[in-house]
Amino acid sequence: MRDILQELQDRRDVANLGGGERRIAAQHGKGKLTARERISLLLDDGSFEEFDMFVAHRCTDFGMENDRPPGDGVVTGWGTINGRLVYVFSQDFTVFGGSLSETHAQKICKIMDMAMQNGAPVIGLNDSGGARIQEGVASLAGYAEVFQRNIMASGVVPQISVIMGPCAGGAVYSPAMTDFIFMVKDSSYMFVTGPDVVKTVTNEVVTAEELGGASTHTKKSSVADGSFDNDVEALAEVRRLFDFLPLNNKQKPPTRPFFDDVDRIEDSLDTLIPDNANTPYDMKELIHKLGDEGDFYEIQEDFAKNIITGFVRLEGSTVGVVANQPMVLAGCLDIDSSRKAARFVRFCDAFEIPILTLVDVPGFLPGTSQEYGGVIKHGAKLLFAYGEATVPKVTVITRKAYGGAYDVMASKHLRGDFNYAWPTAEIAVMGAKGATEIIHRGKSPEEIAERTAEYENRFANPFVAAEKGFIDEVIMPHSTRRRICRAFASLRGKSLQNPWKKHDNIPL
Ligand code: HXC
Repeated sequence: MRDILQELQDRRDVANLGGGERRIAAQHGKGKLTARERISLLLDDGSFEEFDMFVAHRCTDFGMENDRPPGDGVVTGWGTINGRLVYVFSQDFTVFGGSLSETHAQKICKIMDMAMQNGAPVIGLNDSGGARIQEGVASLAGYAEVFQRNIMASGVVPQISVIMGPCAGGAVYSPAMTDFIFMVKDSSYMFVTGPDVVKTVTNEVVTAEELGGASTHTKKSSVADGSFDNDVEALAEVRRLFDFLPLNNKQKPPTRPFFDDVDRIEDSLDTLIPDNANTPYDMKELIHKLGDEGDFYEIQEDFAKNIITGFVRLEGSTVGVVANQPMVLAGCLDIDSSRKAARFVRFCDAFEIPILTLVDVPGFLPGTSQEYGGVIKHGAKLLFAYGEATVPKVTVITRKAYGGAYDVMASKHLRGDFNYAWPTAEIAVMGAKGATEIIHRGKSPEEIAERTAEYENRFANPFVAAEKGFIDEVIMPHSTRRRICRAFASLRGKSLQNPWKKHDNIPL
């Protein structure tokens, strides 16, 4: 009996070593943790239960039958994060460069199927040279099996990808279909084709970092939602994000004990809006002052900074925040900010996360680059996302809400539940000067100035909209936290359904 137990232990020891000491040292040498070290940091201590530790590939080409390491380059299983169930896979770069074989894919599919059945999120830690070259089409088939599950799981359980090494070719498309992608600075990259192929086809010379590093994907392409300095920080931040998310689309977001006063008065908010309507202020200050304990988890912090997206808690419950940022491009909507916010709104709606919208928007950014780039269609994404969302929606207009952007930003007309405005709000079809110059074209500068002042008096306030019932209440800035907490609390039982359809046709 003892021998049998010893054999199991010996087999486990071999599996735990992955590609062996030398390759583990190489992995550490690059500042990267191993697949198992990462799992142990991601999950609660001792909670990881492994599946398929002894699965080995079935390839017999290129002498592969003589090299069949147990586990086949990916560690899979389940565990908990702060006591809540999660399924996880972690690719082991020390085994065939973490490349994806038929059996490697089957292991990932198994835990994805279980996650769907049991209603728990999937977190993938990606560190892979892509398709297992020795396996050819069997590997491609394996990828497609994973893709299909990503698609089926989308909107059912949250899916999070962390890119912790190379991620090339087919390996990028599975993360691309998950809800959030995070990268590790300087040690991870994602691209469809690497620098060598780029050079051959387009003659461009580019480094892997420039082509697909964390900076590229968080600032330029917006493929990634955030990046972190190293593996340890990335995994700690994923744990933090996980705590905001529901386990699946049938559950409410988690509610945690909170230590903040729901009635907290913030007198400083009464002077947040500068006297000059063209002077910017930091919308993040407002977000931090509204959320429980000032905690805010920002998504896509480095991309399209004219809009802010992320999660706060109000009375311990998760709320998604979308806010114009007057500090960048005056907070206008453009192609990038519309896409960024639309995707975020859809995530929140898919997972029953209520949405708080903070509005200070002078309109859509004009110009040929925007029009040629399709701002009509991209702007419509955000409009569509807000209009189809059935979750509780509370909107606060702090200053400008001009033109089409007024409509888009969770207005009353898009089924906003509570639409509040501060007394500093200016809700109008456009800015006073622009409006006057159009309706009084050709008049003298003095007359224009006079008419502009007239227009401002009439329209640069929240009361015209409030008279029509488009604004439910004009509120004191200092009482905003109390007002929105009460609003969301009153909406906990909200029930609203869209008409049956196979699916919508959002302008992609
Ligand atoms: C099999 C692979 C592999 C792969 C790496 N290895 N990639 N084995 N299939 N795709 C192995 C290497 O042989 C090596 O084995 C070990 O992993 C580490 O690789 P190195 O090259 O020594 O490491 P490094 O210098 O860090 O370079 C990492 C790398 C490079 C950038 C990922 O290995 C690379 O370019 N690999 C090929 C990437 C690629 O073209 N993949 C196919 C993409 S096409 P030893 O035994 O020496 O440790 C694709 C199509 C899918 O994915 C489409 C689906 C829709």
